Amino acid sequence: MGCTLNEIVPWGRSNDEYVRMFNLTTADLQRRILGCGDGPAGFNAELNRHGGTAVSIDPIYRFNADQIRRRISETYAVVMSQVEKNKSDYVWNNAIASVEKLGELRMAAMQDFLADFENGKSQGRYIAAELPALPFESDLFDIALSSHFLFLYSTHLSAEFHLHAIQEMLRVAREARIFPLIMLDGKPSPYLAFVLNHFIRNEYDVEICRVEYEFQRGGNEMLKIKAGKQ
Ligand SMILES: C[S@@+](CC[C@H](N)C(=O)[O-])C[C@H]1O[C@@H](n2cnc3c(N)ncnc32)[C@H](O)[C@@H]1O
Repeated sequence: MGCTLNEIVPWGRSNDEYVRMFNLTTADLQRRILGCGDGPAGFNAELNRHGGTAVSIDPIYRFNADQIRRRISETYAVVMSQVEKNKSDYVWNNAIASVEKLGELRMAAMQDFLADFENGKSQGRYIAAELPALPFESDLFDIALSSHFLFLYSTHLSAEFHLHAIQEMLRVAREARIFPLIMLDGKPSPYLAFVLNHFIRNEYDVEICRVEYEFQRGGNEMLKIKAGKQ
C-alpha cells in the first residue's frame, strides 16, 4: 500500500542529503539559497557552519525549540513505523543501511537543527512563513529549494497550490529546485505534467534531472525550473 501520513510532518534531512538531492555544487552553495519547508532539516545549520548562508522558511518556525522538539518526538514513532511497515519501498545501502540507522541519521540532523534554531532565528536564517506566499521582495535569492514537501504531499495539497507555490518560489529566486517528484506512496505525483506544461508554455527553462540520491525507491529525480530561457 505504501507510506501514508494524515498530515504534513516535521521531519529533517541532513546537509549531505540536500547536496545530493539537489545536485548542489560548491558554487551553488555560495549562492543565496532559500529553503521552502525546511522544517527541522540540518541543512541550514551545517551550511552556516561551513560559511554559506541559507534562509529557511517553514510554518513550524513560529514555535520555539522545545515545542518543535516535542513535535519531532511525536512524529518520530509515526514515521518510523510507516517505514518499517513499508521497508521494501526504500533503498537500503551503505548510505542508510537499516531502519535503526535511518532513525539515528534523521535524529542527528534534527538535533543539529534544534541546537541552531534560536540563534539562527535571531539572525533571520529561520523565518516563520509558508507557501504559497513568501515575505520576500522579488529576486532576493538565487535558488529556492523544496525538499520533501511539494509533489510528495500531492494527496494533501492541490494542483493549484503547487502551481502558485512554484510561481512564488520563482518570484523570489531565479531558479527553483524540487525533490522528489513522487508521492509518499512512491507513485508519481499526478500534478507533475500540469506543472511542467504550465512552465514550458510560459517559456521557462524546465529540466528533470536524475540525481545520485535515492532513498524512497524511484525517488531519484529533481525538477529544476529557471526563469526565462537564457
Ligand atoms: C517532511 S518535512 C520536510 C523537511 C525538510 N525539507 C526535509 O526534507 O528534511 C515537510 C515540511 O513542510 C512544512 N510545511 C507544511 N506546510 C507548508 C507550507 N504551506 N509552506 C512551507 N512549508 C510547509 C512542514 O512544517 C514540514 O516541516
